[in-house]
Amino acid sequence: MKRISLTRYLVEQQRANDSIPSQLRLLLEVVARACKSISQAVNKGDLGGVLGVAHTENVQGEVQKQLDIIANEVLIEANEWGGHLAAMASEEMDTIHIVPNRYPQGEYLLLFDPLDGSSNIDVNVSIGTIFSVLKKPEGSRGVTEEDFLQSGAQQVAAGYCVYGPQTTLVLTVGQGVAMFTLDREQGSFVLTKEHVQVPPDTKEFAINMSNMRHWDAPVKRYVDECLAGKEGPRGKDFNMRWIASMVADVHRILTRGGIFMYPWDKREPNKPGKLRLMYEANPMSWLIEQAGGAATNGHERILDIPATQLHQRVSVVLGSKNEVERVTQYHQEARANSSSH
Ligand code: AHG
Ligand code: MN
Ligand code: MN
Repeated sequence: MKRISLTRYLVEQQRANDSIPSQLRLLLEVVARACKSISQAVNKGDLGGVLGVAHTENVQGEVQKQLDIIANEVLIEANEWGGHLAAMASEEMDTIHIVPNRYPQGEYLLLFDPLDGSSNIDVNVSIGTIFSVLKKPEGSRGVTEEDFLQSGAQQVAAGYCVYGPQTTLVLTVGQGVAMFTLDREQGSFVLTKEHVQVPPDTKEFAINMSNMRHWDAPVKRYVDECLAGKEGPRGKDFNMRWIASMVADVHRILTRGGIFMYPWDKREPNKPGKLRLMYEANPMSWLIEQAGGAATNGHERILDIPATQLHQRVSVVLGSKNEVERVTQYHQEARANSSSH
């Protein structure tokens, strides 16, 4: 079997589609290298002294785990010096990190969730890194937080790396979705799946059921119908999975289909949802769309949602197209009914 490394894949994509300028290629290789070292740290676990909490909170008031901070530092250090970036933003940093003056500034902006699925770190369950790449707007001189406030449709690359039984890097530059498995002996990511497609239909849903009593009616309606199984309106039995790492749940959906929901709920009614638009929902939604799936917030396409804040929250419904359309339609129907009386 011909082994295609990430480097070769990127070079060939550049030749075939002109979709990967050399600065972007460097950026993606650097991100992949950073993921490799995060993967090493994750694998060492207790032996590397990387587990447990760090006794600090991030800007969103979440207690940081040691690995949240380590992964954040690895990504920053790896990406600072290459000349491909103007600035970075992360779940773990209040504001943007501008590339220091001692290095040349590039034209790209990188956003990341350095460690997704933090509650799974200490229990040895799959976690990951999510990233999104934007271009610095033309004509902007210095770089500011405003420059990052672009909709998901503006992304030029997006991906994640899942640290599970295998370490797998999943990537899109707008030409479909490709998966690369880390070959630990060679130390390189090797192409293992191309043209990934999410089946349009599914019998598997992913949602945190413990929040059921807090959901809005359309979400409750959809899940109730799934739970009713063969005898219910859907006429088929559904299975449920919830890993509590978006990376792992999305990876399953890209592999065998399914629907993932983290909807708005009544626990914190003023927040649109739990997940973050810029470095969780946008990159995952683009990957899912590139694989033939769909992603909405129940009302509109996630990639079209205007960005107003770096740490903006959003409701997420993504995965197999027909199921996502059904949930979105239930929201539309509920809205139409409530405005008619
Ligand atoms: P993070 O660890 O980056 O804060 O993200 C965790 C997110 C997401 O990965 C997952 O789908 C969700 O939180 C799980 O939330 P619950 O614990 O509420 O189920
Ligand atoms: Mn996350
Ligand atoms: Mn995180």
